[in-house]
Parts: sequence; C-alpha cells; structure tokens
Amino acid sequence: MAVPLFDTRTPLAPLREALAAKAVEVLDAGNYILGPEVAAFERELAGYLGAPAALGVANGTDALVLALRAMGVGPADDVVVPSFTFYASAEAIALIGANPVFCDIDPVTYCVTPDTVRAALTPQTKVVMAVHLFGNIAPVAEIEALGVPVLEDAAQAAGSRTADGRHAGALGSAATFSFFPSKNLGAFGDGGAIATADEALAETVAMLRFHGSRDKVTFELVGHNSRLDELQAALLRLELPLLDAWCDGRRAAAAHYAEAGLAELARLPEPIDGCDPAWHLYVIRHERADELAAALTATGIGCKAYYRVPLHRQAAMRPWSEVELPGTDEAARTHLAIPMSPVLTREQAAAVVAAVRDADLG
Ligand SMILES: Cc1ncc(COP(=O)(O)O)c(C=O)c1O
Repeated sequence: MAVPLFDTRTPLAPLREALAAKAVEVLDAGNYILGPEVAAFERELAGYLGAPAALGVANGTDALVLALRAMGVGPADDVVVPSFTFYASAEAIALIGANPVFCDIDPVTYCVTPDTVRAALTPQTKVVMAVHLFGNIAPVAEIEALGVPVLEDAAQAAGSRTADGRHAGALGSAATFSFFPSKNLGAFGDGGAIATADEALAETVAMLRFHGSRDKVTFELVGHNSRLDELQAALLRLELPLLDAWCDGRRAAAAHYAEAGLAELARLPEPIDGCDPAWHLYVIRHERADELAAALTATGIGCKAYYRVPLHRQAAMRPWSEVELPGTDEAARTHLAIPMSPVLTREQAAAVVAAVRDADLG
C-alpha cells in the first residue's frame, strides 16, 4: 500500500463548497487588504489560542521578523535559536542584523531545553526563540525563568496543547504561526500570524506590517509590507473550527503507529512534560535513516529527512557556526519523517510499520 508523506486535500473535502462560496463572496466584496475577514480571523485565532491579540501577516517568516523587531531586537543583539529547525527561524534573526546564537536540542524531543538555552546565553541575548518543532512544545516557562523573553516559533504547532491545556502560541512574550498550505492550519497560499498578550508589542506589529504607519499617511517606523490577504483570512476562518478535530486525527495517527509496534523498530518522538502535541510531522530516529528512507521510498511510503544539514552547518550561517551541538548532530543524522496527516488510517500506519519491519535494518 502506497502512503503519502502528508495529505492536505482529504481533510478539506468536507469544506469544499463552503470554501468556494466564501471565495466568491470575498471576490465580490472587493475589499482585499486588511478588511473585515482579516479582523474577524484575528479575533477568532486569538480566542482559540487564549491569547489577547493576534495579527495576520504575509507568512511565518515575516511573522518572526516583525515579532523580533517589535520585541526590540536589532543589529548586534544576540538571539538564541536551535540549529535543528527550518532555516527561516535563524534567517529571520540574521535578516534584521542580529546574531543567531545556535543552541542544542534534546534529540528525543527535537526541542531546546532550559540547559541547552542556558549554555548559549550571552550578555547580548535579547530574546530566546523556542521552536515548537514538529508539534512538540518547548518548555517556555522554564526558559523564561532564565530571565530572557521567549518568542515561540509555533509554525509547526498550531493545535498543540500543554499538559494543563494551554495552547502553543500563548505561552511566551510573543508567538508566530505559519499558514503555509501543509501546516496544521494551512491556507491556500502563504500566510502567517503573531500572537501576544503584550498590547504595545501588538501595536508595533500592526504598524510594522503596514510600512510603520498607524494611519497609512504618516510613517513612524521603517516597516514592511506584510499582510495576511483578506481571501486567505476568509478561508482560514472556515478551517479554524476544524483544527482541533484535525489535530485529534494527527494524535490518532501517532497512536496507530504505536499500536502497530513502531517503537520496536525505531525511536519515536516523545512529548515534553506531558504535553499533547498535534504532530505536524511524525519524525522517528533510526541509526540507518538513509537506508530506511530508500527502502520506504521503494515501497511507495513517503518519507523525508527535513534537516539532515542543521543550520549551524549551512553556508549562509558561517559567521555563527563555531559551536558544538551533539544533540543536534545526532537528530540531524538519524531523523526521518514518515507519513502524518489528520486522516492517516490504522491500515496506512500498519502498512508503514510493516515496510519499516520489512526493511530489516535492525
Ligand atoms: C519552524 C518554522 N519556522 C518558520 C517557518 C516559516 O514559515 P513560512 O514558510 O510561512 O514563511 C516555517 C515554515 O515552513 C517553519 O517550519
């Protein structure tokens, strides 16, 4: 049985007619930038997260750039960031002239720990960027207890909850989301958001996304043109009420893998501190990950090594590459994403596990 790495279309099928009708409504309304749909989506997203404010922006990368700037990060400041994450996490820091200071992760959870962050702090550290990688939830409160504000990169963690029921994205000083189509909450193009409880920070983000202006005629900051499109916001509003059910589907998929005996064949990702991750990607570890990938691919099972070269070893990050990160190196060498989606069935999970077993790689 062939199983795709992810499935963005099947979960959307029940919404097809509503999405089409909404798209026509927005086209007819003729209000395409920062209109009522964006305002409503921002209210609804904030309500869902339990965060006082959410602001839509053009994508998850811009969300990081604007949030960092609104948190006061500028040239020559240090921002602690994991090396085992998508490139945008560190790129956003370098883009505003600050220094990404790479810290290690725990390869069992793929996230930073208070100890790995502590080891990377410098007198110039302005912010710690805690990435909730693959849907796991980095320990934000413990990191803030070190005395530095935390920016949550929650691009991969929409719908993940802590053990006490709080949402990823409502834990730190600010948080960012990506609505890239394959994300847990995916748009039909690019989109992103910033959530925060800090009113002044929200006000600065609102200015930064519109050229540093409050009123569109006077300009207080050198800003950006970074808005969530009205059309994307309108469609995301229809999806948001389904997000929890989709996340439950992701959790069920992880349970199917466990029931089928995957833990006997590979190391499984572990939730941090009893949290309930909405696994965006389901990423196992295996000593012979590339051979396993070749065997799975040959049987039609989708799989991918997302971060085989961690960020501190990427060419563009050379100025900040002088660090030893053993947990990162181990995760980079051994990780492999296997199929995950809200609609992954027990039979599909069993087929994936059978293919891992048949690969017979020990
Ligand atoms: C961890 C992480 N941070 C940031 C981003 C950037 O989001 P976007 O692609 O919407 O710019 C992504 C998305 O791919 C991501 O996975």
